[in-house]
Amino acid sequence: MSTPVPVLTIDGPSGAGKGTVSRFVASRLGWHYLDSGALYRAVGVAASWADLDLSDPAALVRCTFDTEVRFEEDGGSLRVFVNGTDATEELRLETTGTLASAIAAIPEVRAALKERQRAYRLPPGLVADGRDMGTVIFPDAPTKVFLTASAEERARRRHNQLKEKGVSVTFDGLLREILSRDARDAQRTVAPLKPADDAVLLDTTGLSIDEVVDRVLALVPARAD
Ligand code: DC
Repeated sequence: MSTPVPVLTIDGPSGAGKGTVSRFVASRLGWHYLDSGALYRAVGVAASWADLDLSDPAALVRCTFDTEVRFEEDGGSLRVFVNGTDATEELRLETTGTLASAIAAIPEVRAALKERQRAYRLPPGLVADGRDMGTVIFPDAPTKVFLTASAEERARRRHNQLKEKGVSVTFDGLLREILSRDARDAQRTVAPLKPADDAVLLDTTGLSIDEVVDRVLALVPARAD
């Protein structure tokens, strides 16, 4: 039997630094990268483009099956095309994250995205970033990490990012938004946000991105290729 393609899962709440850390780790390993949150965000954007009723789960499930998502490498960052349209900026909006979190609570939407996420497991390896990568999508992953940071630190990081982009939001508003998204992601009945039993917990509060990347890389067994 051939050896399964290795997967490193990086789960955790929003703002824990998963995206940046996962991209750097994938690039250092030369592995593929799956931003699973972008898939949920893409469905949210497609649903809002189509003016769908968000209280109609059947329509959202149809939309999930119909939404085509394509990632394109663009000088170290990723551009995301939804049904052929570059939606990178819209996907990053706070409102899109909230929409994605609501849609992600629908079990049939999660089921519809399951195999699509698994299809990213290609040689030489995959770094998968999300909420349920280690628990549901890749339960056999040999290396699982759960990144955390205090809610205040996550709100502070997000606040700084938005300030740099010239977007004006209050720290308190962001903190409230982060806490309510955490609660919704952790309390949903299907695939709630929680560490896999065999995940390594890594608190990134007070650590630099480089320090987190090094600690994560140290967990990946040396490859014999
Ligand atoms: O990681 P992110 O902020 O882009 O994710 C947006 C929302 O999508 C998040 O609040 C919950 C949902 N999500 C999920 O339920 N499962 C995943 N694997 C990834 C994201």
